[in-house]
Amino acid sequence: MLKLKLIEKEKSPKIEIGKARLLVEMRNIVKKFYRVVANDGISLSIYPGQIHALLGENGAGKSTLMNILYGVYRPDEGEIYVSGRKVSIKSPKDAMRLGIGMVHQHPRLVEALSVAENISLSLTDVGVFASPRVIKPRIMELARKYGMKVNPDAKIWQLSYSERQRVELLRVLMQNAKVLILDEPTTMLTSSEKKELFSMLRKMASEGKAVIFITHKLEEALSVSDIITVLRKGRVAAQVAPEEVTVEELARLMLGYEMISTVKREPHRYDGVVLKVENLHVLGDAGVPMVKGVSFEVRQGEIFTICGVAGNGQRELVEAITGLRKVARGKVFFLGRDVTNTSPRLLADMGVAHIPEDRIHVGIVPDMSVAENLALKKYRSPEFSTRFTVMYDKIYEWARSLIKQYSIIAPSEKIPAKHLSGGNIQRLILAREFSGEPRLMVAVNPTYGLDVAATNFILSKLLEAKKRGVAVLMISEDLEQALKVSDKIAVMYEGQLKGIFPVEEADIREIELMMVGVK
Ligand SMILES: Nc1ncnc2c1ncn2[C@@H]1O[C@H](COP(=O)(O)OP(=O)(O)OP(=O)(O)O)[C@@H](O)[C@H]1O
Ligand SMILES: [Mg+2]
Repeated sequence: MLKLKLIEKEKSPKIEIGKARLLVEMRNIVKKFYRVVANDGISLSIYPGQIHALLGENGAGKSTLMNILYGVYRPDEGEIYVSGRKVSIKSPKDAMRLGIGMVHQHPRLVEALSVAENISLSLTDVGVFASPRVIKPRIMELARKYGMKVNPDAKIWQLSYSERQRVELLRVLMQNAKVLILDEPTTMLTSSEKKELFSMLRKMASEGKAVIFITHKLEEALSVSDIITVLRKGRVAAQVAPEEVTVEELARLMLGYEMISTVKREPHRYDGVVLKVENLHVLGDAGVPMVKGVSFEVRQGEIFTICGVAGNGQRELVEAITGLRKVARGKVFFLGRDVTNTSPRLLADMGVAHIPEDRIHVGIVPDMSVAENLALKKYRSPEFSTRFTVMYDKIYEWARSLIKQYSIIAPSEKIPAKHLSGGNIQRLILAREFSGEPRLMVAVNPTYGLDVAATNFILSKLLEAKKRGVAVLMISEDLEQALKVSDKIAVMYEGQLKGIFPVEEADIREIELMMVGVK
């Protein structure tokens, strides 16, 4: 284990105060899944009043370690102490009783119930009976205190990804957790939402809560945390104080090698129109107009990115284009053909690929194997099936080659896809979608949840596709990234496109203002 100038940091008052009141200690945690050692003897100390970043690339074992602390998994070896007492955490209920709360990487809320009802349910889980009506004022009070916008009566299915995350955070706060675990909470947030979240976390820490912040984003770990534990391949690679490392040093600790960015945009070379959207109107789940007269074109070999804060109609727009949602008015043309309200299946056969926002529910069939998921759109082709049977051997063989080509970390192509880490699920979807040789790739936040290396990998795959003449429609909340790879950028605000710029003319400040409706 590499200790980078940690000795000096231990002198700092922040840690000394904490040390006296060590809140949680995990000792030598080992957890194996099949042949994968997700946690290989990890020790971690958590102090009150601190924001502790758990940094590591995809598959490093971050979620596993925290799922152990939260009672989702039992460790194969190792011990956990809470306030000096050895504990056995058998379920999230146990964890919550010990004051440990977790906001998951993928929000786990009941879609059909309201915000207040969901929070009420989770309180009942810890043995507190609280009717939704009774807790509403308390929810509002907490929301006000931390500056969150929530409507306790809204149904979960009506909420955007980031709003759901906020509900999860409230849920944990309502349980009076002393230790707050947040698993990659910033992936779907804009830069201003991120700032809000960070100041909320800071406030929580200043009240004496311990915050564990899982991330693979170096800048975030450096800017919000008091201490950073770097995990690499299931082990602690280093523990450092943010003021004592540079981004480059931290990247090296996380990856174990020097990172060189290979992502470079090249001007586009083709110009046939692949996708044409004409005066499109689409309704949202609640029946209200979410897309209000959107028109644009995406050409061959062009990356066209729509930036915007989640909830401004991007989701509905993409769903309408990919056949998942009905178009209310207007037209969609693909390669000159009117494909308005065509089924997703038919569109896929025509060459429309889609990396959806909700990878777990839309992107994969969680219980099916990795190989089956890779073959999802192809298994009926003569390559893989005769008239009567599916040739599994062929599918497995092909899956193994994709797994290799896309560096998907999986112990076997036969395990259920849901057992892959977030980043690897993402690679799986990308591998599948690109293997269909699409003409149009619709990519919704394609690098969300991915570490630097994987992000570079995905972006370079998109750029490669562009070079082959694929038209790419990207939806992104990451403006800097959009500016790096796109040819054109448009801003979506309240259901409309506010200007379409060639990237050379885009000004980051101006676009940020447009994203929040100022310009
Ligand atoms: N339930 C499971 N069954 C099988 N393997 C698993 C399971 N959960 C995790 N793994 C494996 O353990 C390793 C660590 O996964 P984990 O989810 O902890 O990584 P992570 O650091 O959270 O990654 P990410 O940034 O992608 O979310 C991965 O190789 C993953 O495939
Ligand atoms: Mg994870």
